[in-house]
Amino acid sequence: MSSPVRKLFVTTALPYANGNFHIGHIMEYIQADIWVRFQRMQGNAVNFVGADDTHGAPIMIAAEKAGKTPQQFVADIAAGRKQYLDGFHISFDNWHSTDGPENHELARQIYRDLRDRADGSLIETRTIEQFFDPEKNMFLPDRFIKGECPKCHAKDQYGDNCEVCGSVYAPTDLINPFSALSGVKPELKSSEHFFFKLSDPRCVEFLEDWTQNPKKEGNPDLQPEVANKIKEWFTVRTNPDGTTSEGLGDWDISRDAPYFGIEIPDAPGKYFYVWLDAPVGYLASLKNLLEKRGESYDAYMADPALEQYHFIGKDIVTFHTLFWPAMLHFSGRKTPDNVFVHGFLTVNNGEKMSKSRGTGLDPLKYLSLGMNAEWLRYYLATKLSNRNEDIDFNRDDFMARVNSDLVGKYVNIASRCATLLKKHFDGVIGTVDPDELQLPISRSEHPAALHDAPVSVISLASYVGSCYGTREYGKAIRLVMSFIDEVNRYIDIKKPWDLAKKPEQREQLHTVLSTALNAFAAASRCLAPVLPQTVAAVSKLFGASNDIGQHLFHQRLNAGDTLADYEHLMQRVDVKQLDALFEPPVVAEPEKEEVAAPGGEELAPTITIDDFTKIDLRIALIVNCEPVEGSTKLLRLTLDVGEGRTRNVFSGIASAYQPADLIGKQTVMVANLAPRKMKFGVSEGMVLAASHGDEKANPGIYVLNPWPGATPGMRVR
Ligand code: MSP
Ligand code: ZN
Repeated sequence: MSSPVRKLFVTTALPYANGNFHIGHIMEYIQADIWVRFQRMQGNAVNFVGADDTHGAPIMIAAEKAGKTPQQFVADIAAGRKQYLDGFHISFDNWHSTDGPENHELARQIYRDLRDRADGSLIETRTIEQFFDPEKNMFLPDRFIKGECPKCHAKDQYGDNCEVCGSVYAPTDLINPFSALSGVKPELKSSEHFFFKLSDPRCVEFLEDWTQNPKKEGNPDLQPEVANKIKEWFTVRTNPDGTTSEGLGDWDISRDAPYFGIEIPDAPGKYFYVWLDAPVGYLASLKNLLEKRGESYDAYMADPALEQYHFIGKDIVTFHTLFWPAMLHFSGRKTPDNVFVHGFLTVNNGEKMSKSRGTGLDPLKYLSLGMNAEWLRYYLATKLSNRNEDIDFNRDDFMARVNSDLVGKYVNIASRCATLLKKHFDGVIGTVDPDELQLPISRSEHPAALHDAPVSVISLASYVGSCYGTREYGKAIRLVMSFIDEVNRYIDIKKPWDLAKKPEQREQLHTVLSTALNAFAAASRCLAPVLPQTVAAVSKLFGASNDIGQHLFHQRLNAGDTLADYEHLMQRVDVKQLDALFEPPVVAEPEKEEVAAPGGEELAPTITIDDFTKIDLRIALIVNCEPVEGSTKLLRLTLDVGEGRTRNVFSGIASAYQPADLIGKQTVMVANLAPRKMKFGVSEGMVLAASHGDEKANPGIYVLNPWPGATPGMRVR
């Protein structure tokens, strides 16, 4: 309590600016926001910043597809951020962009500092061979090269790993590779790349110490599971071809134009790989914030007391515990004090959400249904700990915890007692009984508890506070909830509604209500980091002099203060809201536009892919073709569909083709059509041909003919 004010710089991971936030992002922001709000309640000075991660090939390509410049594309994404952040009460001090001028300048300066080190440069150039798309005129990132898996021969696999057999390889290992951008065959082309020499002994030594030696001054106290995982990277490394090698590899930090990114100093046409400038965006957002306030970024960063913390997900640990601290340390900058790693959020036991799209629980839909953001904050808090385990959002569990714990137990205290206090004492608070409401906290629940003796309202705050400080939110909530259970038990034992009937018990009634409300205020202070809006309403109820939510350790309600009128603090979750939330989105029917029917007729009703695959189309060689006696329309075709026999097919194309012109040509036939008995014989299939819907006005029949290379019997799909 009397500890000096700490100076904290806190960030969350910078989301890619190629899509809206999904519920996983919101979880990360809520986790960080609870910690930040707790620190602020402690009187610490926090700068909490975020930004969009704007650079890289995928965003550049997405922008092109959307017909926008990358700058316009990311600006449009940025414009959508506020409604999520405000909606879920995320208290960022700033939201910026990695394409801002601060980031360009800082990234280039950090690079120069690494390059120009007096004890030898940590930047090196090397010529490497990479796939190049001659049509798009650009080097292709692995994800934009596709082809046949070299191991299991599955078609259409990405350049870095096979989604069918799971093997990992280099894009150059793919069989028949093609560019996912243009479809053309990529060429191998060499280019000069810039590397950050992470394998340099200076880097290896620093990083091994920084990640594995938590006791040392200036080193982070990484979560044990995180530190253990990192340890593996110092001994074995998996290469793209699946083999392993010893130690850290150098890090390729450059990409060739065209690339949406930051140009490398003294290297025209070369850009920083997005992950080089992305974490620099933390500093850029901070700098942008401080300069807006007229403060000095350099002075702020130079303060040795400054603490720097990054909240991130478990998928980006390497970047934050190896590359980023190395960049900072060897450019002569301050390294993070810690990196807090969380697991992934799944929804209704669902699979891990797609990183970019997310599934299941759309945060904006949640808000638009009138669902309270604090239900979600509370629910996630009950599940969060300081381990990087995945957690699941489960709708039934969510509803139970919110309705029975938050509303049923917590809010209920206020609604019962405030109303009685109003009725019998004009809302004036009386004496709080100092001996009541003691909460037994056992050692197992909190390591600081030395014995199982009861603790007071004040020590509750200190126990809960230490849980928030170590990101043990689930534990904090459990402690507050067991305290709230005690308060409800106290009320049930004292029965204020009975006391109210006996005038001689009036003083006791006043003490009971005041004591219960004082406990409610204490619980509210403890929940303030999680429920900022509800606790603001509680503050209004108790009046300004009681500063609920301002400080965890404010001791007691002031006797003589008058409560404002009680307004209901929180609604229950309605099952209908959950039903609506998880109802799959209705895919809007595309508006029927008044366009001319293509080819003279309306499109047939939509079918599924399953409908389509019922039709077995095959390449057929026209072995023979002759007129049909007695028919002016039909030709008799003898077709080879690779079955070791031929088929007899009648086709109404006599008006368009001479039999001799068709012999020896290939076409496409429906090979699983039920044979049909006709006047001239049995037809065992149907040949595909194009014609206009209005044949009279637009005569002409055009038999399909495959491109060279197809052979009889191949399926068309
Ligand atoms: N742009 C990079 C981060 C650069 S930091 C300098 C990135 N962006 S991201 O949009 O893919 O992810 C942003 C954050 O959201 C990451 O910390 C990631 O772990 C987190 N999450 C993404 N999906 C998540 C869940 N399903 N659950 C929880 N967090 C999730 O990576
Ligand atoms: Zn495979």
